[in-house]
Amino acid sequence: ILRMTDLDLKGKRVLIREDLNVPVKDGKVTSDARIRASLPTIRHALDAGARVMLLSHLGRPEEGVFDEAASLKPVAEHLGMLLERNVPLVRDWLEGVDVAPGELVLCENVRFNQGEKKDDEALSKKMAALCDIFVMDAFGTAHRAQASTHGVARFAPVACAGPLLAAELDALGQALKNPEKPLVAIVGGAKVSTKLEVLESLADKVDQLIVGGGIANTFLAAAGKPVGKSLCEHDLIPSAQKIAEKVHIPLPVDVVVAKEFSAEAEATVKSVDDVAEDDMILDVGPKTAHVFAALMKEARTIVWNGPVGVFEFEQFGGGTQEMAEAIAESDAFSIAGGGDTLAAVDKYGIADKVSYISTGGGAFLEFLEGKTLPAVAVLEERAKD
Ligand code: 3PG
Repeated sequence: ILRMTDLDLKGKRVLIREDLNVPVKDGKVTSDARIRASLPTIRHALDAGARVMLLSHLGRPEEGVFDEAASLKPVAEHLGMLLERNVPLVRDWLEGVDVAPGELVLCENVRFNQGEKKDDEALSKKMAALCDIFVMDAFGTAHRAQASTHGVARFAPVACAGPLLAAELDALGQALKNPEKPLVAIVGGAKVSTKLEVLESLADKVDQLIVGGGIANTFLAAAGKPVGKSLCEHDLIPSAQKIAEKVHIPLPVDVVVAKEFSAEAEATVKSVDDVAEDDMILDVGPKTAHVFAALMKEARTIVWNGPVGVFEFEQFGGGTQEMAEAIAESDAFSIAGGGDTLAAVDKYGIADKVSYISTGGGAFLEFLEGKTLPAVAVLEERAKD
């Protein structure tokens, strides 16, 4: 793929697609990780003397109408604060934008445009006409084949990967395509059904597959263990058994259970064989957490997606905390991604101890599934021009 950092941007009209889809509350950005991650790209383009136009989506607004609630205004203000300069927000930008060299504007939410989601060709061509160079930098949206991520890259005079996208692909490639072994993956979260393809794909690549959360319950049931009234997808037991035949999955030996799912619920540690009919498994137990942590100590590469317990409630956070600390202490190449995972990374304060933290939620999962991200595929196509 062509990379932005290899191009001369001086005086060029450079259209950069970022993923600035961040949480906003009362007109203020509440978590700015994605905005910060895009700063090196933006600064590089500005310093190189480009005429910078930034694109992003925010939320999932209805197309064809302006919706104040999905406006990028809070993002423009926050970005302006981080860059220490004014970031003008342009409402109507499709017909053309005036930007001087070394200056930037933020174009209003791409999802207000009719045809964005269905990758409309006419809309894509309009966007392409705005620029000399299109830079795809939005890893978090690279799994979407939409006009501002995919269509525009087909028609822009030049289409390349920005530094953030390139760094994400490099890190994920290092972890999954050519990993130093042993490679250990931790896949937690509520349901096997939402991560079935991730589990199947990782089963072919990793040396150990650690499962946690509701996902582990289905694997426990598949191994004939009692799961009481825990979240468990009984219809997926055959799929879980197939996966377990392919790769070593260390199952919990003890668990933390409660009689109800609540912040006040009383937590009890039990052996996996002693889970009662009215118990809900809400975390792995301390013995299990030690076993998992020991496996991670031996790993040379660690991929982490999803908490192993209901860590939002303190009494069920022990397992996830121990996983986080094991990653922090490990000198393996480690990569973490996915919404809940990043919340856990923040909560346990290990952000600067993980080798790479992905900005992707759905995109990270699709990469783990072994899928080609359409917005990356189009750049590969264009590189053959
Ligand atoms: C995300 O937050 O995962 C990305 O920004 C993609 O958003 P979407 O799921 O609305 O396409």
